Amino acid sequence: MRLLRWIILGVIVVGAGAGIYMLTPVTGPARDLTLVADASRGEYLIRLGGCVTCHTDPKNKDAMLAGGAGLPTPFGTFYPPNITSSASAGLGGWTLAQFSKAMSDGEGPQGHLYPAFPYDSYTLMSDQDIVDLYAALQQIPAVDTPSRAHDVGFPFNIRLAMAGWKHLFFTPQRFVPDPARSEAWNRGRYIVFGPGHCVSCHSPRNVLGGLEAGRELAGNSAGGPGGKAPSLLKADLEAHQYDVPGLVQSLTDGFTPGFDTLGGTMAEVIADETSQWTDADRQAVAEYLLSE
Ligand code: HEC
Ligand code: HEC
Repeated sequence: MRLLRWIILGVIVVGAGAGIYMLTPVTGPARDLTLVADASRGEYLIRLGGCVTCHTDPKNKDAMLAGGAGLPTPFGTFYPPNITSSASAGLGGWTLAQFSKAMSDGEGPQGHLYPAFPYDSYTLMSDQDIVDLYAALQQIPAVDTPSRAHDVGFPFNIRLAMAGWKHLFFTPQRFVPDPARSEAWNRGRYIVFGPGHCVSCHSPRNVLGGLEAGRELAGNSAGGPGGKAPSLLKADLEAHQYDVPGLVQSLTDGFTPGFDTLGGTMAEVIADETSQWTDADRQAVAEYLLSE
């Protein structure tokens, strides 16, 4: 009997501990949301961040940001929601603070967000970028088509289960520039890890879909939702004959130095994102990736 009491007590203590752990919010540094918004800068950030690639479905008449095609993952299929300015179906009713929380802490009004939305990259974005992006999204023509429900099994269909994932694999944080490096290098690193989220496809992930710490950009040979993505480490890029002008070229038109074309999800990334960036941004990314 005594043993049983101890076991029950043990279960209660462990359960309460796990419960508290799950319920503690995952919150990063506070943002300054009083900055003056520049919606035209924000329009560029929609391209820099690749929001269109996931949130627009070419098969659904391409209604801009009105909800994307399913993203198949080992946990089920996620449907990127409607993020137009529709008050009923999109972000029209969202405050800037709610938008910032989704982008920075992976938490939406309905609870924890799934990391199929790469907020683990967007968390690095600057306060000005978040404010401008919000202003631009509020100008996207409203489409009232409701978002499609995700098709994921138990326990991943419970948003609260994402609390544990976030505690284990997600650090809400801001980008910290390296003052010893050039402005272009820092801009490149910001894009690769932050808005451009190159890191989310080009890095190995563990069985729970978390990024393997310390192996960022080493390639994802197992293939995640973005397919099998090669390494973007300097030595591997150089082995594939990339130099800075060659890499800028590939990000512009999809041709590799070996006169091949980049396919799969990278073709979409180039069409919706990198080909529409400024030359300076493509140059910065290439310089960063090919730097020592
Ligand atoms: C790799 C695909 C992908 C990209 C790129 C992406 N998203 Fe998403 N996004 C998703 C998915 C999937 C969800 C649904 C997450 C969930 O339900 O928990 C989502 C959810 C969201 C939400 C929460 C909406 C809601 O109704 O709860 C916002 C806001 C959002 N995305 C904004 C953006 C913005 C802004 C960008 C570009 C900077 C972007 N997303 C880029 C896949 C993506
Ligand atoms: C949605 C997933 C995804 C994202 C995001 C992504 N990539 Fe890729 N990338 C791929 C895939 C898949 C391939 C392989 C394409 C192929 O084999 O044709 C690839 C290939 C490449 C290659 C060719 C490398 C080689 O050695 O041949 C480069 C360079 C590259 N990506 C750069 C980038 C950069 C820079 C970013 C960020 C702006 C980025 N990628 C974001 C999926 C992605």
